[in-house]
Amino acid sequence: MGKKIFSGVQPTGNLHLGNYLGAIKNFVDLNNDKDNKCIFCVVDLHAITVKQDPKELKNNIRETVATFVASGIDPKKSIIFNQSSVAAHAEGAWILSCVARMGWLNRMTQFKEKAGKDKEKASVGLYSYPVLMAADILLYDATHVPVGDDQKQHLELCRDIAQKFNNDFKVENFLQVPEPLIQKEFSRIMSLKDGSKKMSKSELSDLSRINLTDDKDQIINKIKKAKTDPLPLPQSMKELDERLEAKNLIGIYSSLTNSSLENSIKNFAGKNFSEFKEKLTEELVNKIEPISNEIKKLLGDKSYLDEILLDGVEKASLIASKKIERIKEIVGF
Ligand code: TYM
Repeated sequence: MGKKIFSGVQPTGNLHLGNYLGAIKNFVDLNNDKDNKCIFCVVDLHAITVKQDPKELKNNIRETVATFVASGIDPKKSIIFNQSSVAAHAEGAWILSCVARMGWLNRMTQFKEKAGKDKEKASVGLYSYPVLMAADILLYDATHVPVGDDQKQHLELCRDIAQKFNNDFKVENFLQVPEPLIQKEFSRIMSLKDGSKKMSKSELSDLSRINLTDDKDQIINKIKKAKTDPLPLPQSMKELDERLEAKNLIGIYSSLTNSSLENSIKNFAGKNFSEFKEKLTEELVNKIEPISNEIKKLLGDKSYLDEILLDGVEKASLIASKKIERIKEIVGF
């Protein structure tokens, strides 16, 4: 049976290899299975939980659409839309925020990381953000949600909220409890400069990530400068686990070539990093350069990107407005 897929990406610029290998690559495979119904959302309401420049935000929304399409998502087959254009997301988030418990949200590690030491100054939106994410998913009865490993806790919260709503209002199975789709081996791509930190758009150094808009020379340079250790490449999984940078680079290589970590270790065991980096660069350039070129091409045709969004908003609104009407009835409005 086909799956109902929902996932979202924040339009905060600098979409990178972590977004691609952790999430978007999976979106493309799911989109290509004709039995699935897929919805991919540019989550602009989520983006403003931290300060955004309004002009840049508008460009970044288009760039995220361009990235989806350039990566291989077919806008005729999947719904691509932006969150703020479908009012049910904000309405749903409010209602569900009255179902979610403070204690549940207090456990969210991403808020703690993003708010940092000065959490009194974080926006209220940053705190309640996982409830909005739950609304996104539950409005479309999604059965499966493809995400990177960092979103796992938010998905568990979404499941808890769905179950509590169904119990509180005695509407068994009304909100679909979604399953996460998280890749086993490469669900967390790390920084090229520090194997203990997630690759992220907010990291100051651009050398820490491969952006999906990087050109060939930038990719070559970033892999050349990527942190390694002085030893030859590991011989076993156990040895790999102890060497963070090697693990990350071999993980990236494996994900790009659709091979297992074990196979990649066999291929490169005992070799030096310079030889491996050459192969890795080749794979990265083969994969990322066409996407990067296509993003740039698509960005030259803003009206095409806007049409995709308009069409997607229309389709998403049809689904979400029905669900939110039922939610309101159930609550007693
Ligand atoms: P966002 O925009 O931070 O990231 C988009 C997707 O990329 C994945 N990702 C990574 N995967 C592996 N390694 C990394 N270094 C890495 N960095 C990012 C993320 O896990 C994510 O899948 N809250 C979400 C967006 C969202 C959403 C939703 C997702 C809003 N509503 C509903 C699913 C369903 C976020 O901020 O992702």
